[in-house]
Amino acid sequence: MRTLFPDQRIKAPLTLAARTNLFPLTALGYELWRRRALTLLSGRPFPLQEELNLMLKAQEPVAGMHFLDLGTSTGLYARALLGAGAGRVYALDLSPAMLKVALWKARGYEGFVPLLARAEAIPLPEAWVDGVVVGGSWNEFPQPQVVADEMYRVLKPGGRLWIMFSHRSDSLLQRVLEWTGLRFPALSELMDSLSKSGFKVDGWREGSVGFVTGTKVTTRG
Ligand SMILES: C[S@@+](CC[C@H](N)C(=O)[O-])C[C@H]1O[C@@H](n2cnc3c(N)ncnc32)[C@H](O)[C@@H]1O
Repeated sequence: MRTLFPDQRIKAPLTLAARTNLFPLTALGYELWRRRALTLLSGRPFPLQEELNLMLKAQEPVAGMHFLDLGTSTGLYARALLGAGAGRVYALDLSPAMLKVALWKARGYEGFVPLLARAEAIPLPEAWVDGVVVGGSWNEFPQPQVVADEMYRVLKPGGRLWIMFSHRSDSLLQRVLEWTGLRFPALSELMDSLSKSGFKVDGWREGSVGFVTGTKVTTRG
């Protein structure tokens, strides 16, 4: 019998970086950091609204469309999509504390669906969502190829992918953070992972903060 969802019993232990997201204090303070994150990471004024506009332009949400916000934390992308007209957003995170804050912040937004799960085993059927968005969480996934395959699986054919990530640099700080389980891929590495899963990578922006967009094509090369 074909199973509807992948096996949810993931045995891989959480990285140290992932564990820090389990603390209620991290969740409560998360958006304070997030609002300034891209300015700090890119070294130029980068207002959150500019990032959200880029993401919304890539996804073009309209009524009735369903999205997955992978590693949603407190639901920033999910709220932006719902506010722009999306019908439903599955907001997935492994941290109950993050999802608790996300639920509180999303009160009044219809169509917000929290999912406590791991990105390596998304509890949604195949070809279920019109778009997948990943805001910074790509740097936290210890098994990126597994996650890329999962994103491909749950997207409808023609569905759109948006990823914002912190690009690899020579900084000592990145080497130290890697020790906690964070990863800092080069743009080419990320694009390779997506192509291997079947995505057509159709847009990118290089820089300390990188952006990639892709589309689910159904003929795998
Ligand atoms: C950098 S935050 C990203 C926040 C959010 N996407 C945003 O744009 O503000 C990473 C989030 O991904 C979650 N996360 C990390 N690894 C995960 C995994 N393997 N499965 C599900 N969630 C994960 C963490 O709990 C954390 O809340």
